[in-house]
Amino acid sequence: MNISKNDFGRNFHWGVSSAAFQVEGAHDKDGKGESIWDFFSNKKNKVYNGHHARVACDFYIRDYEEILLMKQMNVFNYRFSLSWSRIFPDGIGKVNHKGVEFYNRVIDFCLNEGIEPWITLYHWDLPLALERKGGWTNREIIKWFSEYVSFCIKIFGDRVKHWMILNEPMVFTGAGYFMGIHAPGKKGLSNFLAAAHHAVLCQAEGGRIAKSYNSNLKIGTTFSCSHIEAKTNSIKDRQAQVKIDALLNRMFLEPLLGLNYPVKDLKVLRRIEQFIKDGDDKKMCFNMDFIGVQNYTREIVSFDFFTPFVQAKIVKADKRNVHRTVMNWEVYPSSIYYILKKYAAYKNIPEIIVTESGAAFEDTLIDGNIQDEERKLFIQNHIAEILKAKQEGVKVNGYFVWSFTDNFEWAEGYKPRFGLVYVDFETQQRTIKASGKWYSDFLSG
Ligand code: GAL
Repeated sequence: MNISKNDFGRNFHWGVSSAAFQVEGAHDKDGKGESIWDFFSNKKNKVYNGHHARVACDFYIRDYEEILLMKQMNVFNYRFSLSWSRIFPDGIGKVNHKGVEFYNRVIDFCLNEGIEPWITLYHWDLPLALERKGGWTNREIIKWFSEYVSFCIKIFGDRVKHWMILNEPMVFTGAGYFMGIHAPGKKGLSNFLAAAHHAVLCQAEGGRIAKSYNSNLKIGTTFSCSHIEAKTNSIKDRQAQVKIDALLNRMFLEPLLGLNYPVKDLKVLRRIEQFIKDGDDKKMCFNMDFIGVQNYTREIVSFDFFTPFVQAKIVKADKRNVHRTVMNWEVYPSSIYYILKKYAAYKNIPEIIVTESGAAFEDTLIDGNIQDEERKLFIQNHIAEILKAKQEGVKVNGYFVWSFTDNFEWAEGYKPRFGLVYVDFETQQRTIKASGKWYSDFLSG
């Protein structure tokens, strides 16, 4: 690839991403409370092969080594999340000082090694005690979340400049409260719409709280997004495309930008009105400093009479005979270009950071090496698409690989490996993959 890091300018943020539940382990250590993911992954048949994250990547113990490895690989921005129930075991009230100490230590390690910490406040591991009160479906979550955010910003905001309020609200409300395939395993439209509306309010409220504490902080939030195409040019398929685009790419972003829910293009969203209170229109808005874009693939959509609420379905990659990852996601680098152009067309997004991008492929350890050419190419091609968008004027200013190490991939357990660094989960031994070596060389340039 003949692109260099310098083509992106000196202020571009290059980094790697992770999330507390996927890497930390130490599920009940030093006073940590149980989260919905601890509970969910202990249930039968919820996670692939009965995998759980009680140890995961053992980051709670190996944090310093991991950060040193990052530094050795020329990665100077690290995005990670805080486990709410490590800090507040019951979600609210009593603070677990050992948990706070842990994050203080991680932040200080990063800073001492010249690595900028980027913190996500909520990456899906809600304290179980709060789920027992309804979790995201209970409007009280705004109060609980505000207490948690205020505390974190007050304690860590003196050293951490970049904050993301939520990770992919579409995924944790859709998979967790509509389909029931992620924690907490709830189902149904009503649960989904309630959770979604409260997440929309929390994402804005979290932003306001952080800024009121210190207006110099850089506050963002992240969205899952995929370029959507219609399977055919028929009117019905194109209508299906518009609906799925509204659902996957617009539903959580537009209220934040003051555009309300995209009800016109997704009629079922009218039913969210039952959860909207006077004054919410304003409360849903907040001017973020940046928007985090997390794109992995494109989706092909067709009309489907039998799919409730949307009459549209996604045609899976294995039905299309295309190059795909272990997640059954099509490898389609231009998707990120289209998404960047789409988001750049909104008036009030000052800056975009690609806060996750990466791929799971089979990795085989041969003579201590992993030749993951597909992953390397995936990252290179995505970087090239981002540069193209940037050169066309899109204000994209960062790229974070998902993920630094292989880790616990939610309902898929340890099967999909996304890391630049291979983890042997038996021995916890790390091996830098060819993709990791390439990224490291690229970043040294
Ligand atoms: C995102 C999520 C990450 C990671 C990644 C790969 O949706 O934020 O936690 O799991 O997908 O599937």
